[in-house]
Amino acid sequence: MKQVFLRVLLSGSVLLGVVAPVAAYAAGEVAPIKPDSKAGAKLYYEGDPARGVISCVVCHGAKGNSDLAANPNLAAQPHEYIYKQLVEFRPRDGETMAARRGPDGAPSSMTALAMPLTEADMRNVSLYLSEQPLSRPAAASSEALVARGEVIWRGGIAAQNVPACAACHTATGAGIPALYPRLAGQYASYLEGQLKLFRANHRANSPMMHQIAYRMSDEDIKAVSDYAAGLR
Ligand code: HEC
Ligand code: HEC
Repeated sequence: MKQVFLRVLLSGSVLLGVVAPVAAYAAGEVAPIKPDSKAGAKLYYEGDPARGVISCVVCHGAKGNSDLAANPNLAAQPHEYIYKQLVEFRPRDGETMAARRGPDGAPSSMTALAMPLTEADMRNVSLYLSEQPLSRPAAASSEALVARGEVIWRGGIAAQNVPACAACHTATGAGIPALYPRLAGQYASYLEGQLKLFRANHRANSPMMHQIAYRMSDEDIKAVSDYAAGLR
């Protein structure tokens, strides 16, 4: 009896929930530098041409509110999450490919942009962005999708062993600082793309999200992405 229970615990979404708080931000645990939000803002708006750093605002918009669905909103995202992504867009020492890659496993468009960033740059710009309000959130686009998306968000898909997104990303989709990213108000097409990258393990920087996305169909992914975009 006990063993059966343990096996269920280890194989299912329960485990995902249990390990999440310790495993989520391993890369960002040690903070050797006290981040400087003002320096982060300067880098965000001006880049640093002498060092080959391109300004972020051209793609991610004023205060991290992007005008184009192709470029994700960054405002109000936990700084630990932003920092982790910037680190993981870059190949680790001795490796040729980064953990977070783009479609077909090709380098993400962020990889070249993140390469010239220093540790301080990444800490600073992450802090700056986390402090900005998401003033122009994206919206949901289809009522039919949203209804299906809401079911998945709140309750998961039991038959496919997909846990409720709300369990980690919270009911409002705001996420939890240091643990789970914000999804509310993010562009639906971006969320959909990331879930497919997790599923294919081209974005291989979260075993947890790989396990979840792996069990979802294209339709599940589309519906829950549309719902999350419209969450407030
Ligand atoms: C040429 C346009 C462009 C520029 C310039 C740019 N980005 Fe990006 N950024 C993107 C795109 C496109 C993505 C989505 C990448 C993907 O899906 O692999 C992205 C993704 C990100 C993400 C991941 C967001 C998430 O929700 O996981 C972060 C963090 C980020 N960019 C930070 C920055 C910072 C900081 C700068 C400036 C140093 C910057 N970007 C400059 C286009 C750009
Ligand atoms: C057990 C906790 C947990 C559950 C449940 C969960 N997630 Fe996540 N999710 C995470 C973590 C942690 C990350 C950050 C991954 C990383 O470090 O890159 C994440 C990242 C994401 C991202 C990438 C966001 C971005 O800005 O690029 C998307 C999209 C996402 N989750 C969607 C979902 C959906 C949809 C569900 C429900 C079907 C879900 N998640 C359920 C923990 C969870």
